[in-house]
Amino acid sequence: MELQDFSHVRAILEHYPPERRFLLAILQDIQKHYNYIPRASLEMVRDYLDVPLSKLYSMATFYKALSLKPKGKHVIKVCDGTACHIKSSQVIIDEIKKVLNIVPGTTTGDGKFSLETVNCLGSCAVSPVMVIDDRFYGRVAPSMVRDILAEYGRLENERA
Ligand code: FES
Repeated sequence: MELQDFSHVRAILEHYPPERRFLLAILQDIQKHYNYIPRASLEMVRDYLDVPLSKLYSMATFYKALSLKPKGKHVIKVCDGTACHIKSSQVIIDEIKKVLNIVPGTTTGDGKFSLETVNCLGSCAVSPVMVIDDRFYGRVAPSMVRDILAEYGRLENERA
């Protein structure tokens, strides 16, 4: 059982009329507040919009911006589309894996970083590219990774 305060889910729901067309917006707001979609919140959405739980789960797993697992405080998205792949995006991913000790699709133990790979961020001209939260980095070199991550606070393997 999740021991969490879901009063904010109630506030999010009350912000919208109980109409199914607001479903995605509601889920996005929940994701934004909690950094993931807690399972208990899906039951509250089901009751509010009268939507089958199965539909909510399929939406929460279909949209990459939504997650049923808690995401890190900072979400790192490394592009592994064709242009970035040719420019060695995999080496960038490997460097992040090494520095943070996580693999794509997971989150550091301290909940600080999540690592994801994506297909084409629309900036192939400056590949390889990555985005951390809303900040964009182009022409990323493996040697830049440690400094970039350090901007977001102490690194996982630097803790005393
Ligand atoms: S393939 Fe990476 S930005 Fe287009």
